[in-house]
Amino acid sequence: MAEVDHHIAQWVRGHLPYLALALLLVWVLRLKGADVRHRWFAFLMYFINKNTKNPKIEELKRDFFSSLGSVASHDPVLRKQNGIKILEIGVGTGVNFSYYPDGSHLIVVDPNPHFANYYNENRKKYPNIHSEEILSLQVRRRTRLRGRGPGEAMTGVADSSVDVVVVTLVLCSVDNVDQILKQVLRVLVPVSPPALGRLLGGKFYALEHVREFDNNHWVRQSLQEWLTISGLWPFLFDGCCLNRDCLAAIRSAGFSKVEAVMSYTPLTSIHFQLIKPHLEAIAIK
Ligand SMILES: C[S@@+](CC[C@H](N)C(=O)[O-])C[C@H]1O[C@@H](n2cnc3c(N)ncnc32)[C@H](O)[C@@H]1O
Repeated sequence: MAEVDHHIAQWVRGHLPYLALALLLVWVLRLKGADVRHRWFAFLMYFINKNTKNPKIEELKRDFFSSLGSVASHDPVLRKQNGIKILEIGVGTGVNFSYYPDGSHLIVVDPNPHFANYYNENRKKYPNIHSEEILSLQVRRRTRLRGRGPGEAMTGVADSSVDVVVVTLVLCSVDNVDQILKQVLRVLVPVSPPALGRLLGGKFYALEHVREFDNNHWVRQSLQEWLTISGLWPFLFDGCCLNRDCLAAIRSAGFSKVEAVMSYTPLTSIHFQLIKPHLEAIAIK
């Protein structure tokens, strides 16, 4: 058995009381409904982002987003200021500001209204980015709005109007990945020939945790499957699925070019072992 699977088996044994607590939490959340779950998830993301700063992850993200600097905006005013127009889907608390070029114009979408305060607090720290309020604060009701969450609809974002679309840790929890990708292609500007030596617009950046891609790590794979199919993980973490093959979805969405790397995130804590396999993809419309 691979070493990592041994760690996971050990973790499960050592955390049985916590798993029991998780079940209790499930029961309370079931009683209190979707709003409490949205509130809980927004707080959890805020707490994790505030308390688990990891320089290696920051470096990974800095590397990943570094090519944003070579995108030239389709908007002549922004282009003059070296800014670009970015749409971030599933912005959450707003953890990506520091990777965006100065002078950029950021529009954001998120269906969970309880992220708004955290996001608004955070964006005040980045006056160098012209960021807007969260576009839609519509709460998803999983049964009635299935497949029509904001990222799937994005009626407030015009066709061919943004230079770059960003998602980080979002495709795992949307209702319909294919529909989101259709929307990404709709709102991205078409790519023009390089201007002034730089690519003109039309790029999609996705940094996502994904299904274990190495079959040797069958314990992790099985846990990811079981926790997702049972509904336990999605229930606790606002729809998050551990077993999605996001790369296959991106490859078949209709982008003209997809560059992708699958690897393991440098997350050392045992708590994050199930979300270690991750995908870095940059696609061009
Ligand atoms: C794990 S959080 C990631 C937040 C942030 N992108 C980050 O990297 O910390 C997932 C985010 O996706 C959002 N989300 C879930 N379903 C969505 C949908 N259908 N459309 C847009 N955003 C969605 C959630 O509300 C949440 O903010």
